[in-house]
Amino acid sequence: MPAPPPHPDRPRVLPPGPAAYAEASDVLAVGQLVAMPTETVYGLAGDAGNDAAVAAIFAAKGRPSFNPLIVHVADAGAAEALVHIDDRAARAMEMWWPGPLTLVLPRRADAPLSLLVSAGLDTVAVRSPAHPVARALIKASGRPLAAPSANVSGHVSPTTPMHVVEEFPDGGGARLKLILAGGRCAIGVESTVLDLTGEQPLLLRPGSVTHEELESVLGPVDLATAADGVRAPGMMTSHYAPGLPVRLDATNVGEDEALLAFGPDQFLRGGAVRLNLSNNGDLTEAASNLFAMLRALDRPGLSGIAVMPVPDKGLGVAINDRLRRAAAPRT
Ligand code: TXA
Ligand code: MG
Repeated sequence: MPAPPPHPDRPRVLPPGPAAYAEASDVLAVGQLVAMPTETVYGLAGDAGNDAAVAAIFAAKGRPSFNPLIVHVADAGAAEALVHIDDRAARAMEMWWPGPLTLVLPRRADAPLSLLVSAGLDTVAVRSPAHPVARALIKASGRPLAAPSANVSGHVSPTTPMHVVEEFPDGGGARLKLILAGGRCAIGVESTVLDLTGEQPLLLRPGSVTHEELESVLGPVDLATAADGVRAPGMMTSHYAPGLPVRLDATNVGEDEALLAFGPDQFLRGGAVRLNLSNNGDLTEAASNLFAMLRALDRPGLSGIAVMPVPDKGLGVAINDRLRRAAAPRT
């Protein structure tokens, strides 16, 4: 049987370049959405100052509107128009921007941002991405860009342009017009989110900037727990979930299961399909493969995905955070 024709509202995938940035800026200027690569995952970007654009992001993702978005800016100078930057925040920006660190900071009363972006909180999450395509788009559009990961709420985050097409075959209800193709994301898990609005820094989401690295520059950093629910509204449990059930810390694998291995593969046989996050146990390689491999193993006819243990240190903390949520009971 021939493949069905693509949906008429399927987003177009464009190679980056001056013409693509100009077209994407026009799309953003009228409140529609563009998917952009960042060094972590692909983002679903819209004009952070436009209520309709921000509402379109929530609608396309099916995201609960109490879960605020990250605002992407070129640099600390651009962030200054949106949030109050204290000494700690300035030090963190100096150290890690541009890069995979998001800072939650007090919102300026006159910030030219949609109120929806911060979901009614008096704080804003800001980040300056390092990916050259994201940077070029922010520059060309001349606006701060609200951009959550470019997946349907609760799904696995996208690390290639094709993953974004799979998530939004109809452009998320014709809201997402363009995908800027920037290859595979180098890091592969979302940015570290650090709340700097309290007395002591609070790590809301582990990422490739680790707890130890943050403490080495900022002093003691607390780890968010379920009790921090109001400050960390995105910490809902089930997330990053493939269609199949996920079984963690596997020490065996069934014939009808997929195996997601890590390190030298101890299981001599078994598993309907097998992929290895990193044959030689490299956590950086494992993070960059995580979401693409969860997608690739999510095949009809299997009973689940068995995942070998991943060491809980360095980038492994972020990998295990995502895996625990992928395995959490679905609501
Ligand atoms: O790597 C990333 O951060 C990617 C790329 C596209 O930049 N973006 C991303 O966005 O992961 P999203 O929306 O999927 O995750 C944003 C996280 C959520 O956990 C959200 O709750 C939290 O940041 N967040 C955003 N604004 C916040 C705020 N004002 N206070 C506390 N948490 C906030
Ligand atoms: Mg996300």
